[in-house]
Amino acid sequence: MLKAEGIRKTFREGSGIMGELRRLLGRDPKGGVKAIRGVSLDVRRGEILGLVGESGSGKSTLGRILCSILEPDQGRVLFDGKDLKSLGKKDIFGFRRKVQFMFQDPAAAMDPRLSAGSSLSEGLAIHKMGNRRERKEMVGGLLSEVGLDPSLATRYPHQFSGGQRQRLCLARALSLDPELLIADEPASALDVSVQAQIINLLLEEKKERGLTLVIISHDLALVSYMADRIAIMYGGLIMEIIPRDLLGALDHHPYVKALWASAEYQDDMSKALILDGEPPDPQNPPEGCPFRPRCPEAQKACEEEPPLKEDRPGHLSACHFR
Ligand SMILES: Nc1ncnc2c1ncn2[C@@H]1O[C@H](COP(=O)(O)OP(=O)(O)OP(=O)(O)O)[C@@H](O)[C@H]1O
Ligand SMILES: [Mg+2]
Repeated sequence: MLKAEGIRKTFREGSGIMGELRRLLGRDPKGGVKAIRGVSLDVRRGEILGLVGESGSGKSTLGRILCSILEPDQGRVLFDGKDLKSLGKKDIFGFRRKVQFMFQDPAAAMDPRLSAGSSLSEGLAIHKMGNRRERKEMVGGLLSEVGLDPSLATRYPHQFSGGQRQRLCLARALSLDPELLIADEPASALDVSVQAQIINLLLEEKKERGLTLVIISHDLALVSYMADRIAIMYGGLIMEIIPRDLLGALDHHPYVKALWASAEYQDDMSKALILDGEPPDPQNPPEGCPFRPRCPEAQKACEEEPPLKEDRPGHLSACHFR
């Protein structure tokens, strides 16, 4: 359905002449933040793909590139085999309806000046769905669908609780009847019981609407509960892509091993593998495998970046020794 090829993205200290000036003055000496450093990934129609990694590994950046909110510096994204860059205005408009992104921070994702109802009908109007009266009905239907009372349409985003606001964001993403929904940390700001409600709601919607889902999360345990495949990111690269039923059953990449051990033993941290050291500095990432400085198995060969290679159908790993 969606395919990313060779994606790279560096955030620089501003662009244009001011950015150049800052670089000349040495304020951006290392050439920016290397957020994505060569990622290829496909999303298959109908699946739930989990994108997991610790803070700063590049998950949100990759998610935003996949739905064309952000342009990559290098590489391309294809939807149904077509390069997004080659799409005309009409097709890009269609793509923006078909592929929806739920932002990590639901409070920031909503316009505070618009009531919930106006926020929902705005998108419908832009995409010329229904007339004014029909849109009002659609808004009511959407709110009920995500478990909110339609009377809440007159409220403003700050008058919702965190869980309700996440439901509202989901309603807005669903309002355009998308084919693919990319949800960035849909539950991480919520307490555990509300987390479960939101995740179950997502799973229900997926089933009802036949959606394809990409779930971005730092929580491997949560993602392993719902995803069909899991891509693990580290330092702007993918370390491993794992079909769900093989998780825990393979000789995983050393980073994934540590991550899985801490997910598996969440209740007994004494059994979890604790990683020494810090994640890589994205302004100055290490040469070769980004996990090398923390890897208990690192050797000379790891100074070369290992390619992400398939060792069995559907399983890919970026480690020289696997
Ligand atoms: N607009 C931006 N300008 C500059 N740097 C950015 C920007 N967006 C992200 N970054 C940097 O890019 C790197 C990857 O960020 P990203 O938000 O993709 O990480 P993440 O995996 O989503 O982290 P988290 O789990 O904390 O949400 C980080 O070092 C971040 O500081
Ligand atoms: Mg993020």
